[in-house]
This record gives sequence, C-alpha cells and structure tokens, in this order.
Amino acid sequence: MKALLILFVLMNLDKLLKTGRCTETQDQILSITPKTQEQVDILKNVSTQYETALWQPVSPQYIKEETEVHLYVPANSSEIVKDLLQKHAITHGVLLANANELIEMQTRNGSTDPRSSSTFYERYHSLDDIYHWINRTQQENPNMVKTILIGSSYEKRPLYVLKLSINNRPNKKAMWIDCGIHAREWISPAFCLWFVQNSLSFYKLNQDITRILDNMDVYILPVMNPDGYHYTWTTNRMWRKNRSVSKSSNCIGVDLNRNFDANWCTEGASDEPCTEIYCGAFPESEPESQAVANFLRSHKDSVQFYLSIHSYSQMLLFPYSCTLDEAENHKDLLEMAQEAAQAIRRYYRNTYKYGSGAKTIYLAPGGSDDWAYNLGIKYSFTFELQDRGRYGFLLPPSLISRACNEALIAVKTIALKVIEKT
Ligand code: ARG
Ligand code: ZN
Repeated sequence: MKALLILFVLMNLDKLLKTGRCTETQDQILSITPKTQEQVDILKNVSTQYETALWQPVSPQYIKEETEVHLYVPANSSEIVKDLLQKHAITHGVLLANANELIEMQTRNGSTDPRSSSTFYERYHSLDDIYHWINRTQQENPNMVKTILIGSSYEKRPLYVLKLSINNRPNKKAMWIDCGIHAREWISPAFCLWFVQNSLSFYKLNQDITRILDNMDVYILPVMNPDGYHYTWTTNRMWRKNRSVSKSSNCIGVDLNRNFDANWCTEGASDEPCTEIYCGAFPESEPESQAVANFLRSHKDSVQFYLSIHSYSQMLLFPYSCTLDEAENHKDLLEMAQEAAQAIRRYYRNTYKYGSGAKTIYLAPGGSDDWAYNLGIKYSFTFELQDRGRYGFLLPPSLISRACNEALIAVKTIALKVIEKT
C-alpha cells in the first residue's frame, strides 16, 4: 500500500509541483465575463497591450458587458494578466489549462504514434501533407476528380481547387466550398478533406451524396489561406490573417474575410493593419481573395451554392453580414438553415444557431459570402463548426469526425434544397 502511494506521488510529482507554483508553465485559455464598463475597458486594454490572443470576440471593439470573452494567454504573460484581472476584481475561469499539450497533440505525426488508431481524416495535416493529399486524391480518382490551379498566395503557394464531377450533362449546376480562410481554424481544412473523402467513398452508396453529385459539380478549395495555415504550424498557432506585408505598417496580414467587395471596410472591419480584422488596402487587394473572386466570376452561371467553412461557435450563417438589411430571399435562406440545424440536432443532438450574419453575430463587411451573394449566387452560407469554446480553435483530433459529420449533414440538407429550387 505504502509502495503504491509513493509510486503515485513520484508519477505525479511533476503535476503536483506545477500546481504549487504561481507561474504557469502552460499557455491557457481564460473565460472572462466583464460586468461593468470599467472591466470592459480593462479587458480591451489587456487584449491589446499584452501578448495574448483574443479568441472571442474576434476584435476588442466587440467586448461588452455581460458577454463572455475567451482569451488565449501564453505562459509568459500569465502572471501579469492574472494580476491585472485580480487588481480590478475581474473574475475568470480557465477553459483550458494545458494549451501547449493540446497543440502538441494536434501536430503530432500519426505515424510516430502507434497508440493512435485514428485514420488520416481524423487528424490535422500540415500544408505539405494537404498538397500531397490533393495530388494523391486526383491520381486515385481520375474519372471523378480534377485539380484546377486558380492562383497563388502572397508567398506564392499554389491555390488548388478540386473539382468533383461525375458526368458532363449540359447546364449542370455547381456548388463551391472553401476552407481555411482563417489560418487558426484547423477544423475547416479538415472538413474539406472529409467532404471529398466522403463524396468519393459514398457515391452510389449513399442516396443523398449520389443525388448531389449526379446534379452538381463540386468545387472545393481545401486551404484558401495557405501562408497563414503554414504559419500556424510553424510559428504561431493563433494566427488568423494571411501573411501579406503592408506598405504602411510593420504589422502583417489582411483578414481575407474582410477583403471582398461587399460594403468593404465599413463598420465591423478595420483599416488598421495591426488589427485581426484589417480589410486590406482595397477590395480584393490580396491574391487569395482575388483568385477566389476571379474563379467565381467566371463560373457564376453554374455555381448556385456558395459555402465557406469557419470555426468556432456552431452557427449556420447567411447574408447579409455587411448590413442589417435582409437579403431578398431571406425566407428561403432562413428555412434552409433551419432545416440544416434541425438535421444536426436530430442526428447528433447538437445545437447550431442560424440566421443572417449581421444579426446572429456582428456586422462584418467584406466577407466572401456576401460578395458571392451579390454576384448572383443566391444560396450563400458561412458555417462556423464546433465547438462553442470548450476547446475553441484547439479542437482535439478525437472530435474531428463528429464536427465534420455534423457539418456534412448540414451541407447535404442545403445542397438537396438547392437542387430542388433551381
Ligand atoms: N467569424 C466569421 C468572420 O469574422 C464570420 C463570417 C460571417 N460572414 C461574414 N461575411 N462576415 O469572418
Ligand atoms: Zn473564420
């Protein structure tokens, strides 16, 4: 008995020591709900003045009373941040106490971890791996998959679109899915891979997939922001924007989802390069947004359904985000989103909010969904996948399959509706 106790203490010595210390050894995600305007101002200050990354809301300007803030605090700023919170009587909870461990877990190469039994699609993949996957997928499915180079990123990485196409009947409809506009939202590229895999495996087996592919071509851009994505793997896991260098500032990166020509750079975006919601120098100033816009402009007669995949917060959003006005087919869009959310609830017992972007989250102009909608793609959506903040951007690999299957059923529901209506 004694020996067991000693063994236990020895095995956990590391942990016991850590909790005893006052300085953190791990990055943490704090949950903080400011109660007064003073606390709001302190929080805004903390998130801009110290080395932290705001997870929710996307920008300090949206911090308000009685609304939960998720803040990523690196170990080395932990003490000073917590002191400040305490000094102003701001209480906080710890959402994640072991962010570094989680990050390590997500970047661990599957082949070096024999205990991991998950498949390729239940892991996160580096950019190089994804490029290889694109190549392999096309070579293994020459009749169904083509790759199209639609442009390149600021750092000259290729932007490949996969085209899934079963037959070439005339006047075929099409849908578009892009993933990874925002670099740190890793579940998003994982979904694009999942979707392709699922489509190729279940064509002629699953009724819905078969009906969709028989009626539509599907264009998939697995990583719209490859420079940012690469950067999250090598340097800063919390990076959101692309990596373009600004002429007017030392700060790097444009928010690609503020860079499209839809009430560009009005309220909800910023012309300040150092913010996370920087709109860029002008609409489509960035090679990534320009490549997508050019491709969609030249395919607008066939593409009826536009979808952009983000995380986190579990929402199915549709236009507008750039104005509080209702889209002309608002009722249709609402009905489709509602049906998709119901399907998720029915099959997976999980809740997704739905509605127009501006009314469901915040005004956010210059987004790809609004731009595509104004181009004439009347069924335009942005999905925010799992979770609601438990892990946030650090969703563990073991939750990939659930998150993707939920999104998949929503995509299918809406795609089938689009086929019916067009
Ligand atoms: N979280 C996303 C963002 O901030 C929301 C996108 C909704 N659509 C939009 N056009 N803003 O970009
Ligand atoms: Zn996003």
